[in-house]
Amino acid sequence: MQAVKISENIYWVGAIDWNLRNFHGYETEKGSTYNAYLILDEKITLIDTVKEPFASEMIARISSVIDPAKIDIVVCNHAEPDHSGALPALLKIAKNAKIYTAFGAGIKDLTAYYGELPYVGVKNGETLSLGKRTLTFVPTPMVHWPDNMVSFLTPENILFSNDAFGQHYASDERTDTECDLPEAFIQARKYYANIVQPYGMQTAKALSVCADLPIETICPSHGIVWTKHIPQILSLYNDWSKGTQDDTVAIVFDTMWHSTEAMAHAIETAFLNAGFKPRLYNLHYCNNSDIIADAMSCKYIAVGSPTLNNNMMPSVASFLTYFKGLNGNKKKFIAFGSYGWGGQSPDQVFEALSACKCEPLLPAIRLAYKPSEDQLKKITEDVQSAIQAEQENN
Ligand code: FEO
Repeated sequence: MQAVKISENIYWVGAIDWNLRNFHGYETEKGSTYNAYLILDEKITLIDTVKEPFASEMIARISSVIDPAKIDIVVCNHAEPDHSGALPALLKIAKNAKIYTAFGAGIKDLTAYYGELPYVGVKNGETLSLGKRTLTFVPTPMVHWPDNMVSFLTPENILFSNDAFGQHYASDERTDTECDLPEAFIQARKYYANIVQPYGMQTAKALSVCADLPIETICPSHGIVWTKHIPQILSLYNDWSKGTQDDTVAIVFDTMWHSTEAMAHAIETAFLNAGFKPRLYNLHYCNNSDIIADAMSCKYIAVGSPTLNNNMMPSVASFLTYFKGLNGNKKKFIAFGSYGWGGQSPDQVFEALSACKCEPLLPAIRLAYKPSEDQLKKITEDVQSAIQAEQENN
């Protein structure tokens, strides 16, 4: 296990988690990395650590360039255990290291996980001289935990951004000039949608701080390091944090005997006729985190479920729970579903979407048993009229 040079005397010493497939509900089909960075100066400094099972990988990479016992400072930009889990193993070796973390929330969170350690709380704009280099600490609370902060290193102008600008993307390449760049952008978007999206306002505030810094490199805590494509990732974050909407529509459903599926297609036709780009997601095949990434920019969302034992289907309930926690901007919604008797699901979906920062485009749409061609045509006409009325009002 070798350290990877990022700049003179600055190394990536993290770990690659090729097999991560689920990050508390976020399906991570490309695995992830936990990035830690080593700065060799008069004070030997480690920026963040890795998830606990990967401690030996990190320590081996550090050992490839320096004795880890010589580490003086560990900066904990964020206490979540994917970045702090290796702290106890490291401190058994680096016995004199002090841990710099956000004053208040950082110390509180790390103490909760690891007990009393030699913490130093840092405040906004506080600096720390490492010798030839200086670190400046900037809190970025709720992007995406209360303790989050970023650290800016001069004179190299490296922003250690922790979760911001990260991607769950395992690869052998460490930078945006070496990796599969389109994949890095896809994973950065999915990461934003599934982790950061609820905190758009706080992200916008953090971005305004970043705008004042002469950033030459962004070293996030997951995925690849941004070097050449910093303007693009900053611009994407700017759009995402503002909740910029486009002309796509997410139509999400499950189906028992294809009736709710037929309704989904009738709704699809209405949006196509109105000039939108509908995308259909059958929850039997599609996972919540991919849908959330696509739905982030939609102005409209339609969710449908058949009635199963007086309830919506469990797959739809799971999607709506996940969506409620993450939806970052107001959307107009349609709730729909088929039933045999009872028929509770369309109203349940309607209620659940109403609790998700969304507003109804029209009342819940319900059909019994197998929809006829005329019934499907009526759905298309009703939805199309509702879209047109809404467009005229805005
Ligand atoms: Fe990658 Fe919030 O931890």
